[in-house]
Amino acid sequence: MDTKALIEKIAVSHEATEEELIAVMESTESDDFLFESADRIRREIYGTDVYIRGLIEFTNYCKNNCLYCGIRRDNRNVERYRLTEEEIYQCCDEGYSLGFRTFVMQGGEDSHYTDEMLCRMVSNIKKKYPDCAVTLSLGERSEESYRRLYESGADRYLLRHETATAEHYAKLHPEEMSFENRMKCLETLKKIGFQTGAGFMVGSPYQTRENLAADLLFIKKLKPEMVGIGPFIPHKDTPFKDCTQGTLRDTLVMVALTRLLHPHALIPSTTALGTIHPQGRELGLKAGANVVMPNLSPTRFRKLYALYDNKICTGDESAQCRKCLEGRVSSAGYKIVTDRGDFRA
Ligand code: 5AD
Ligand code: FES
Repeated sequence: MDTKALIEKIAVSHEATEEELIAVMESTESDDFLFESADRIRREIYGTDVYIRGLIEFTNYCKNNCLYCGIRRDNRNVERYRLTEEEIYQCCDEGYSLGFRTFVMQGGEDSHYTDEMLCRMVSNIKKKYPDCAVTLSLGERSEESYRRLYESGADRYLLRHETATAEHYAKLHPEEMSFENRMKCLETLKKIGFQTGAGFMVGSPYQTRENLAADLLFIKKLKPEMVGIGPFIPHKDTPFKDCTQGTLRDTLVMVALTRLLHPHALIPSTTALGTIHPQGRELGLKAGANVVMPNLSPTRFRKLYALYDNKICTGDESAQCRKCLEGRVSSAGYKIVTDRGDFRA
């Protein structure tokens, strides 16, 4: 079968084998057809809507030591920061007036914030803004903790699986971190009732085409409501500092294939994609993504939340990012909408 026919088959059936996925990844001549097919499916379900999520990076302390990540524990060159509760609420206030109806609280795994503090913040935000969704992105926690956060009102949880292949996972993480626990956390989040986000990096060290196919098949099986996909970008203070970054093309292909296999997914066009190419986020939208996540963190802390080098938007005010994205989204042919942007089953 030629690649176009294969893409068409995947677009209609939302199914593919590992071999078929690898065949699409390996042949570049049908890329435009792939992106157009993904865009068509996205438009059938979500029209031209693009949902915006206000990202609050509230702590860069992390007890983990992921080999790729700039805020890993062993990086002595980062100045660590934590936002106070009051500062977090201020981010939400500013975000709300800019039209955000989802707040994403993201941070390193930082035990300074106890369940009690986190639950209080979630419930205060939900009380003040009942028309907003609260998304958490706080890494691996116990089932008990996830439950308490859910009961305090959190709607969604993002936890990228990073790679669906255990052997590859072991090459990206220190021995103390376990692939099994990552997977268990994702199952638990779904079971509790969170709208759950998984996802992976494209072009991470040691990654093979087979690994990427496994990521796609894992997404197909787990059916997470959200899927975050971005290129790996080296960070100068990590063991992977000399590794090559993921490419624009490969990342766009993964976004598009995710749309074909899991049509209803909410897929952000990520900041990492915008970092490796000036039009990366626009191209992500045209390849099937339908979410953007601008930064709402206070500008003075933004540079300190550097998971990778050269991250964009670290000098901008929240209002600037909001405006900038408005232009980018509309130039790509879509429209930012300011509702919660829930998953459409
Ligand atoms: N390059 C790209 N993405 C990264 N992340 C962490 N470090 C990097 C990097 N060097 C991603 C991980 C994590 C998310 C918050 O950011 O996938 O889950
Ligand atoms: Fe931040 Fe463009 S999105 S400046």
